[in-house]
Amino acid sequence: MVYNWGIGLQSSKESQVIERNGYTMSQLLKTITTSAPTTDIPFNRPCLLGNELVNMMECLDQGHLSGNGDFTKRCERFFEERFGFKKALLTTSCTDALEMTALLMNLQPGDEVIMPSFTFVSTANAFLLRGAKIVFADSEADTPNIDVQKLEALITEKTRAVVVVHYAGMACNMDALLALTQRHHLFLIEDAAHAIDAYYKGKTLGSFGQMSTFSFHETKNIICGEGGLLAVNDPALIDRAEIIREKGTNRTAFFRGQVDKYTWQDIGSSFLPADYVAAFLWAQLENMAQIQSRRLEIWRHYEQLLKPLAEKGLAQLPKIPQHASNNAHMFYLVCNSLEQRTYIIDTLKKDKIQAVFHYLPLHESPYYGPHHDGRNLENVTRYADCLLRLPLYYDLTPELVERVAKVVIAACVSFELASRER
Ligand SMILES: Cc1ncc(COP(=O)(O)O)c(C=O)c1O
Repeated sequence: MVYNWGIGLQSSKESQVIERNGYTMSQLLKTITTSAPTTDIPFNRPCLLGNELVNMMECLDQGHLSGNGDFTKRCERFFEERFGFKKALLTTSCTDALEMTALLMNLQPGDEVIMPSFTFVSTANAFLLRGAKIVFADSEADTPNIDVQKLEALITEKTRAVVVVHYAGMACNMDALLALTQRHHLFLIEDAAHAIDAYYKGKTLGSFGQMSTFSFHETKNIICGEGGLLAVNDPALIDRAEIIREKGTNRTAFFRGQVDKYTWQDIGSSFLPADYVAAFLWAQLENMAQIQSRRLEIWRHYEQLLKPLAEKGLAQLPKIPQHASNNAHMFYLVCNSLEQRTYIIDTLKKDKIQAVFHYLPLHESPYYGPHHDGRNLENVTRYADCLLRLPLYYDLTPELVERVAKVVIAACVSFELASRER
C-alpha cells in the first residue's frame, strides 16, 4: 500500500486536506478511531482531537525526528508551568520513567522499596531491576490506594523508598505519606500513571514526591500511543535525570550549548521519545480541558445512573476521598463477589459491551508469590476479585452510557435474585 501523507506539501495547521489514499484528514482520523470494532462498546477507544497528525506533519517538516525537538520542549514546558513540576522530562513510557527513578535513587541490592500490591507490574519491575527487595502493602478498605496506616510496620533500616499509586487518578493520603517518609528519611515516589491533572487538597499529584511518573499510553486520559513523563521535584536530581535519559551522556546540556562536546558521564539508557510522538501529545495537551470535562460528564452520568446499585447494596461505586479531585480516569464498580463480577462481565459481553477487571495481586503472582512474606493483603485480594471497570472514553455518548448502565443494573438484579433462590 502506498501512503501519500503529502509531506512537504501541507505543513500548516490550516491544512485539513492532507491525503492518504484519497482520504481527507477528518476521514482518516475517523478511520483510525473506528477501525476493526470487536464490540459495540469497547472498554477504550483512543481519543483524537484533530491536530495530532497536523502536528506530526509539522514535526516531519521541521526535519527533527529524534527526541528533544521543538514539540518535546513545548510539552515539557507545559507540564512545568501548568503543574509546577521542577523539571518535566518526556519519556518513552511510564515504565521507563519508573526505571529512571530507580536509577536516580542509586538503589543497591538488598535495599527495600514499599509499594502497593494492587498495581501494574512496571511499578515493581523498575526497582527489582536494580536489585531491590519489594515489600508489598495492602490497599485501603474503601479505595484501592495504599493503606498508609499499615506502612510504618513495614519500614526497616534497609527501606529506601515508598512508592504510591494514585489509583484511578484519586489521590492517596499525601499528608500522612509525607509525614511518614520525612520521619524515616525515605524517598517518596508517586506512580501517577492514572493521575494527570489530578489534585490532593488542590495541589497537583506528581508534585509531592521527589520524583513522579505519568503514562500517556492509549488507555489514559491524555495519550500518544506509548509515552510517559518523569517529573523531578528535587532540584538535586535534575542534571542526573537528563543524563540518565540520554544513555548516560550530557547530550542535553551539549544541545543547550552548555558544553562543547558530549561524553559518557554516568549509567543510563534510551528513555527519550521521538519528537513526532511529542507532536501527537502536544495536540492532546492543548485540548486537555476539553478532554477532561467530557470524561467527567461521562463519569458523573455513570454515577447518577448506577447510584441505586450502591443504595441497594448490589455493588459499590468509587469513593472519592474528601482530599481528592476526580480526573475521571476510570469508572469502576466494586462488586460483592468474584462470581457476581464474572456474571456481570459475561452479561455485558453478550450485549457486545466490554468491561474489564484490573490488576492481579503482585504479591501472589507466579514470579513474586514465592518471595512474599505471607502477610494477608485482604483488600488487594478483594479489589483483584471484585473491581470492574466500565467503558469510558472521550466519544462515549450519553445513549451508550445509558445502555451500559442498564445492562449492569439488569445483571446485578438477576444475579441477586438467583442468589436468593440458591
Ligand atoms: C499504575 C501504573 N503504573 C505504570 C504503568 C505503566 O505505564 P506505561 O504503559 O506508560 O509504561 C501502568 C500502566 O497502565 C499503570 O497502571
